[in-house]
Amino acid sequence: MRTRLYDPIPSCDITPETVYRQRRELIRGAAAGLLVGLAGCERPAAAMSTAPPIPAPKPEIPGLQRWTGSTTEARTSYRDLTHYNNFYEFGTDKSDPAERSGSFRPRPWSVEIAGAAEVTGRFDLDDLLKGIALEERIYRLRCVEAWSMVVPWNGFPLATLLRRFKPTSRAKYVAFTTIERPQQMPGQHWNSLDWPYREALRIDEAMHPLTLLAVGIYGRWLPNQNGAPLRLVVPWKYGFKSIKSIVRIEFTETQPYTSWSDMAADEYGFYANVNPEVDHPRWSQASERRIAEGASIFSARIATLPFNGYAEQVASLYAGMDPKALY
Ligand code: MTE
Repeated sequence: MRTRLYDPIPSCDITPETVYRQRRELIRGAAAGLLVGLAGCERPAAAMSTAPPIPAPKPEIPGLQRWTGSTTEARTSYRDLTHYNNFYEFGTDKSDPAERSGSFRPRPWSVEIAGAAEVTGRFDLDDLLKGIALEERIYRLRCVEAWSMVVPWNGFPLATLLRRFKPTSRAKYVAFTTIERPQQMPGQHWNSLDWPYREALRIDEAMHPLTLLAVGIYGRWLPNQNGAPLRLVVPWKYGFKSIKSIVRIEFTETQPYTSWSDMAADEYGFYANVNPEVDHPRWSQASERRIAEGASIFSARIATLPFNGYAEQVASLYAGMDPKALY
């Protein structure tokens, strides 16, 4: 039973890096060092927003509908949302995606729909988006590294799209794949992950009304570093489930391969539901650091909420399952 609700120690201090590396190296050989970026010690300097507040650029997506369930918490600034990113395809530093994604081309873009559905094939993204109403939904985003943001996403429920393909009764899971384009994604020249990045949800999770496909933030089309032109957002799960720059969606009968949980199952589960009661092997998940202008690693942490605050909406999806198995 947890007694500590607040952990003022930076996650990096909990398990010395060297100890962790030695352990991982024994287990996984060369892959160990490469895990450190996501899993390990985020660099404190990158976490601090030293730049003066910069207002969000003017919105450009027309006709956004306001969703009534948005959190009223202060939104993370556009600058922090676009300069403090995890997108290993561009590098493992938080600043790499903004600095190295300039030559990435998110159009033209097509998405392949495959597997257990009546309608499959390759579809142009702009055709797929035709007739879909875009909404603004402000969700909390909780990274497994114990930092968090509040993001005004622009997008639509994933279910709206999936229903069009008429999944069959054999569709028990939905698998997603990120584009593989090393000539525009320099991080793919490194074996930091087994490319392409892959993620998956159970079909009921995918169909849940909170599960979003995002095409924008702050009323602007997604910047490359945030997963242009199409990314998943699953607000009750750790951020690594929210796969970016999706090119393939497949309905499957069995649990699909997922990049992080298949590479390091002891550290990243398939479900990855936010749970303050289940610590990561190297740091506490009881609290989190909210990325904000002027904040630093020494700023007060806030308590992490079960299912990232969305328990009321999603806990019933896991009725009868051991919450510890849902990490
Ligand atoms: N998707 C891809 N393709 N590659 C990645 O490295 N990182 C994940 C997720 N989606 C990642 C990804 C992680 S760990 C997080 S926390 C979120 O994206 C971060 O999203 P953001 O950079 O928009 O905040």
